[in-house]
Amino acid sequence: MSSKQYFDEVASQWEEMRAAFFSEAVREKAISLARVEPGKVAADIGAGSGFVTEGLIREGLRVIAVDQSEAMLDEMRNRFSHRDDVEYRLGEAENLPIADATVDHVFANMYLHHVESPPEAIKEMVRVLKPGGRLVITDLDEHTFEFLRTEQQDRWLGFQRKDVQRWFEEAQLLNVMTDGVGESCCAQSSQGDAEASVSIFVACGERGLAQRRGGGD
Ligand SMILES: C[S@@+](CC[C@H](N)C(=O)[O-])C[C@H]1O[C@@H](n2cnc3c(N)ncnc32)[C@H](O)[C@@H]1O
Repeated sequence: MSSKQYFDEVASQWEEMRAAFFSEAVREKAISLARVEPGKVAADIGAGSGFVTEGLIREGLRVIAVDQSEAMLDEMRNRFSHRDDVEYRLGEAENLPIADATVDHVFANMYLHHVESPPEAIKEMVRVLKPGGRLVITDLDEHTFEFLRTEQQDRWLGFQRKDVQRWFEEAQLLNVMTDGVGESCCAQSSQGDAEASVSIFVACGERGLAQRRGGGD
């Protein structure tokens, strides 16, 4: 099963599953590090059913939510149908449907461990950031719970923070930092009694103010 098929299948239950895996503290930490301001534009990449988006619109931001799964985007459309500050775009990690240097912040929660190439996905998220904009990623620390690969289509068993730090720096981000969120993601295997508890990290970096012609800093 592909990751897209998996998320299409679980879309209607995702918010309930998400609440069992991790709490609102994760998005609170991410949003606080991004130094958001009302009226700014944020992209929520791998937005799912809108966990991070919900926190951002509460702070008065406009959000472009991107996901590979139309079913997930439909969940969001239903959830935020009364609002006009969220745009829904079907898209893939390698080619985000957002123009260069157009958003103030990019968030990606529990998305990086699903993409084929994490460093390339980071570069693609940096491409859409305005100069001075911030990328904030929250994801799993490296772990050994193989059942997350087979049961939840995780492509990577988390990451070492030093690798994420290097990928941010290679994508030309400045003031890069990684830290623990202070919470673990907990998931129970559907086969047997295996139970995962994996600490969650946050990584943050800022796009430089100077831009060369033709993109990049
Ligand atoms: C674990 S869910 C997290 C959803 C949401 N960010 C949250 O915190 O609840 C991962 C999401 O990333 C999306 N996704 C995974 N790989 C993707 C890719 N290559 N391109 C775009 N979206 C992707 C999935 O469809 C899914 O909605």
